[in-house]
Amino acid sequence: MAKARTPAAFVCRECGAAHRKWAGRCDACGAWNAIEEETALSAAGPASRSLGGARGRVLELSALSGTEPDPPRLAVGVEELDRVLGGGLVPASAILVGGDPGIGKSTLLLQAAAAFARRGAKTIYVTGEEASAQVRMRAARLGLAEAPVLLAAETNLRDVLTTLEAERPAVAIVDSIQTMWADNVDSAPGSVSQVRAAAHELTSFAKRRGVSVIMVGHVTKDGQIAGPRVVEHMVDTVLYFEGERGHQFRILRAVKNRFGPASEIGVFEMTGKGLKQVLNPSALFLSDRETTAPGSAVFAGLEGTRPVLVEFQALVAPAQPGSARRAVVGWDSSRLAMLLAVLEARCGVSLAQHDVYLNVAGGLRVSEPAADLAVAAALLGAVRGAAAPADAVVFGEISLSGALRPAPQPDLRLREAEKLGFRAALTPSQVKLAAKSGMTVRRFDDLAQFVGQVFAEG
Ligand code: TYD
Ligand code: MG
Repeated sequence: MAKARTPAAFVCRECGAAHRKWAGRCDACGAWNAIEEETALSAAGPASRSLGGARGRVLELSALSGTEPDPPRLAVGVEELDRVLGGGLVPASAILVGGDPGIGKSTLLLQAAAAFARRGAKTIYVTGEEASAQVRMRAARLGLAEAPVLLAAETNLRDVLTTLEAERPAVAIVDSIQTMWADNVDSAPGSVSQVRAAAHELTSFAKRRGVSVIMVGHVTKDGQIAGPRVVEHMVDTVLYFEGERGHQFRILRAVKNRFGPASEIGVFEMTGKGLKQVLNPSALFLSDRETTAPGSAVFAGLEGTRPVLVEFQALVAPAQPGSARRAVVGWDSSRLAMLLAVLEARCGVSLAQHDVYLNVAGGLRVSEPAADLAVAAALLGAVRGAAAPADAVVFGEISLSGALRPAPQPDLRLREAEKLGFRAALTPSQVKLAAKSGMTVRRFDDLAQFVGQVFAEG
């Protein structure tokens, strides 16, 4: 008889990968000392036999064609937050807000809780990290002390759920999922099994009772929430709150949303009085731009449905022989390596003997491929000691052959640039504009042509 497969008993804290036995290093993500033993959720454990021939209940099947009204949404009234949520909070949904410790998650959610409560929605804020007094002090500092938010400081998941069942709020905020502790799970708070159990219980409570549950999750230094993938796939919406510590800007990014577009962003500024929304991020990101500085280029980007202009800055300096450095902030470093190779192979611009530094001003992380041409413009400007035309925005993807590919929604990008006072755009030649634009659009077939015409030597 074949031996029955035993379920994986060890799980990586960083990536959620399952392992048969303990190891010092996770094969899946390479993290050291992150594998821990997993305890089954219920004492009974997983079913050891197949469901077999015993009859279950016959389910009622329905057609796809029925009409379903749009779910009613509870708008926060903070435009930047509502946009990221896809127009407001959907009842019976579970939302995970992830971010580095200290980035401002508790501040954001306390402000959101106050906004919900002031709109008449019953809101409960459960804090497992801070004492009630601390939360109250923060509320006073933010000028929210009068908001009718119900507060509890508790980490026992059973007590939290019992309270939520009894109170039946419209919105429940749990800060944070890593501090919640289920007494039927035999491992430490913050471990994979505990985080998974807490997320599972809270998500099913949300579905069962029609409550919107918002959970806070801390991100480890590798950029993943502890017990990570497990929680991400359980919830309906995953938002990440990001930003550089030194900058006051914070970006709330939807990476998954079952009720709205993903990759939507909301921009906030951390002030002495909490988070303030930034309704025109382009103006902010470009606010202290030195227009004539060599090695800078403005990228007309798109974040979700919204155009955002950002400045790329490049610096090129002679390197120690044999040890050229590449340092990137706000962009993908392997994409930079690719771009440097294309510049060398297709345009004869070699930076092999140079250190290359690339930065996105303002602390935004850009992931759009359409930023390629703007990065190339910044690099070329740095090499040639010239600025790209100061009144021009740049966008377009560069392929390995050096050809330029169009980017989606060029009209939206041009409109935003025009609004901010730019007069020209440097784009791939295949860009198709639906409407007439007041901007001068200069089109290029490939990178070599771009280099020759915009950054001619001499
Ligand atoms: P917090 O919301 O506690 O972060 P998280 O919950 O993500 O760990 O925010 C902590 C930081 O925010 C702290 O370093 C101080 C700063 N802060 C302000 O600058 N202004 C404020 O009004 C508040 C409440 C916090
Ligand atoms: Mg916090």
